[in-house]
Amino acid sequence: MKFTVITILPELIEPALTAGVVGRAREAGTITVSSINPRDFTHDRHRTVDDTPYGGGPGMVMKPEPLLAAIGSAGQGHRILLSPGGRPLTQARVAELARKDHLVLVCGRYEGVDERAIELGIDEEISLGDYVLSGGELGALVIIDAVSRLVPGVLGEPESAVDESFSHGLLEYPQYTRPAELDGRPVPPVLASGNHAAIATWRREQSLRRTATRRPDLFRAHVPTKADNKLFPPLHARTHLALVHHPVVDRNAAIVTTALTNFDIHDLARSSMTYGLAGYHIITPITSQRDKATHIADAWIADAQGEHRAAALRLVRVADSIETAIADITAEHGTPPMVVATSARAESFPTLPRVTPTQLLATATIDPRPLLILLGTGWGLADTLIPSASCVLTPIDGPSTWNHLSVRSAGAVLLDRLFSRPA
Ligand SMILES: C[S@@+](CC[C@H](N)C(=O)[O-])C[C@H]1O[C@@H](n2cnc3c(N)ncnc32)[C@H](O)[C@@H]1O
Repeated sequence: MKFTVITILPELIEPALTAGVVGRAREAGTITVSSINPRDFTHDRHRTVDDTPYGGGPGMVMKPEPLLAAIGSAGQGHRILLSPGGRPLTQARVAELARKDHLVLVCGRYEGVDERAIELGIDEEISLGDYVLSGGELGALVIIDAVSRLVPGVLGEPESAVDESFSHGLLEYPQYTRPAELDGRPVPPVLASGNHAAIATWRREQSLRRTATRRPDLFRAHVPTKADNKLFPPLHARTHLALVHHPVVDRNAAIVTTALTNFDIHDLARSSMTYGLAGYHIITPITSQRDKATHIADAWIADAQGEHRAAALRLVRVADSIETAIADITAEHGTPPMVVATSARAESFPTLPRVTPTQLLATATIDPRPLLILLGTGWGLADTLIPSASCVLTPIDGPSTWNHLSVRSAGAVLLDRLFSRPA
């Protein structure tokens, strides 16, 4: 693998590549690194590589001609500009880059690079992250380091790279070495057990836990294996939705009981079925309203023409209070649920932690408890009367400031934000 770095500061590159894995790979000839200085392609006394920006503004811009001449002199290769405006570097992209023969890494300086040099001489722009460095050289070094370790022959044991953080879309499990105990902290006993299957299971579990707690975004994108589903049963299949008619508030913040709505029974049952939930609970203290809900659900279940609808309506259960629904779910799963409140207003449930759907998906998946999501009717859940809730979902928002969705729509959007498959 050949790396060519285009930089006006080549003295920054060489010293960082003499030791460690990359240094040894260079000595062995598995990789080569050289630098080309755009100043060598200037024709004025001062070897000028920058000029003032058209349109004004602070700082200077790298001139296109010396940069393009330097890139051209590097020969055939995949030409990458390090740029905060590029695609953020990921391990997946590193693995793709490791399959190329020659990477030409172009380092910007000053306020950046003339756009036409990018259009004419660059194949791809890569960013190290959402912060601004004073030049692309550190980025080029990062790419050389990350890519080299995936080049065959660079790492001693090829598995070292396969097992690492991000290789499977997850963070790596914690590592330990001797001593067996440090400052009262023992090494997890399973690692010293010699049982390789148990060690592999422990490591996978730790890896999933760590990713869920530290990087819910990565966890969400991870497609669980069958073995992962055994360690942490899929959340949707132990999630219950509850439509709460009491205690809720009216427009004057008075505690009220709302009336049942036929559409809510039907539509939220269908949403619950679509996202694979375990149950949909209609909560009202009024006996005749509960009877009506059961009657409506039963009517649809009995309809011989509508097997799809019947399957959804079979998820419907009724309860006289949130506490009764919690008791029913506890009996079904053998453990009480984690209860999550919802609200359209950011200031509701002021004492509870706020979680996004992605955070809830991650934390609740590694928690063995079932999940109960409470949807309010009327003007929303009466936050002072629901002590069982342990967190509240952030309000659903769109580009407008208006978010007064019907509870049917809110439930559907929420379930989609929680359980939709990554596109
Ligand atoms: C001071 S920066 C220019 C920043 C530019 N004015 C902007 O706001 O996007 C100079 C050079 O550093 C490099 N650089 C800065 N931040 C970077 C990042 N996050 N990832 C990759 N390269 C970066 C680029 O080569 C860039 O052209």
